Amino acid sequence: MTRPHLYRTLAKPLLFRLDPEQAHHLTMQGAALAGRLPGLSGQLAGQLARPHPQLGQHLWGHRYSSPLGLAAGLDKNAEAVPVFTALGFGFVEVGTVTPLAQPGNPRPRLFRLPQDEALINRMGFNNAGTGLMARHLGGPRHAPVWVNIGKNKDTPNEAAAQDYVRCVEALAPHADGFVVNVSSPNTPGLRSLQAAGELSRLVEAVLEAAGRRRPGLPVLVKLSPDMDEHDFAASVQAMQQVGVSGLIVSNTTLSREGLQHPHRQETGGLSGRPLRERATALIRDAYRLTGGQLPLVGVGGIFTAQDAYERIRAGASLVELYTALIYEGPGLPARINGELIALLRRDGYTHISEAVGVDAR
Ligand SMILES: Cc1cc2nc3c(=O)[nH]c(=O)nc-3n(C[C@H](O)[C@H](O)[C@H](O)COP(=O)(O)O)c2cc1C
Repeated sequence: MTRPHLYRTLAKPLLFRLDPEQAHHLTMQGAALAGRLPGLSGQLAGQLARPHPQLGQHLWGHRYSSPLGLAAGLDKNAEAVPVFTALGFGFVEVGTVTPLAQPGNPRPRLFRLPQDEALINRMGFNNAGTGLMARHLGGPRHAPVWVNIGKNKDTPNEAAAQDYVRCVEALAPHADGFVVNVSSPNTPGLRSLQAAGELSRLVEAVLEAAGRRRPGLPVLVKLSPDMDEHDFAASVQAMQQVGVSGLIVSNTTLSREGLQHPHRQETGGLSGRPLRERATALIRDAYRLTGGQLPLVGVGGIFTAQDAYERIRAGASLVELYTALIYEGPGLPARINGELIALLRRDGYTHISEAVGVDAR
């Protein structure tokens, strides 16, 4: 039996019987334990994370062996970095982490919508804080690790910059990049930090702190898919002006368009298939707005190599996924890598960078 079949026929039916958050914790415990077994993640990486010359890129001083990364929110405390970086992902984003540990929203706060191949979550930045994450990040990694940072729920927006800077100061020695998260829908008022003026002030403080601690460390900003066209353009252009290293588009959406499953009425951010078209259109917009000069990371509804390829053609230098891993299993990144190479070959490209933005020009 092949690996995708093993997941679909064995692990997924068992996990999908459990409450989604219980299934999540069980998987995380297994992955964290596997990562502590001497040599295991290295063996996994040897099988699944083989370098593909057509997919490798040098960005911000690091080698990204694949354009496909793991999106934020799955490994909030960086508990399973050795295993997640061994699955064939070119990079892994951990967090969102806040300076202090916080419990997040009351449960239930994570919902599956299987007919829609989607999830709705209102986790609310549950995490163990920067101290524990720093300890976890001391272990082995087989790919670059970005740290997605946020503010504690109790910190007012006027003082938000201090929280982001504290995260940078605590984690700069361990991070291969930072992602400023101002786009989660589950921390009250957070998204208002995305407005161009406020965002510029916040991001300048983060850039300054990162530059002081580790010159050259990339700082990216993650945006929501729910801004109107004008506000999105203003924020994208403001970020290019302040000199961010890249933009991640997008976080989860508050839209419920086209959903079938009864869980559609749950409050929270929607991820997965229904987000794909909107997230692709926004990458195309961001690529045009920045003249193709700013690296973009496309995320939202990527399930297949074709989805990843479309996002790259729309302007993304890198892409990420989360929800698809829940529906398709841990063999997905290696499978997407293999199929991406076939798609490049089909279209006459010798390297992934040749395809970036070809549908946005
Ligand atoms: C359960 C869950 C928790 C998430 N937590 C975070 C988070 O803490 N920080 C963040 O920036 N994005 C978070 N996200 C958003 C993902 O990183 C991603 O932007 C979004 O899910 C769209 O990608 P996907 O359709 O591949 O899942 C979370 C998503 C899910 C499903």
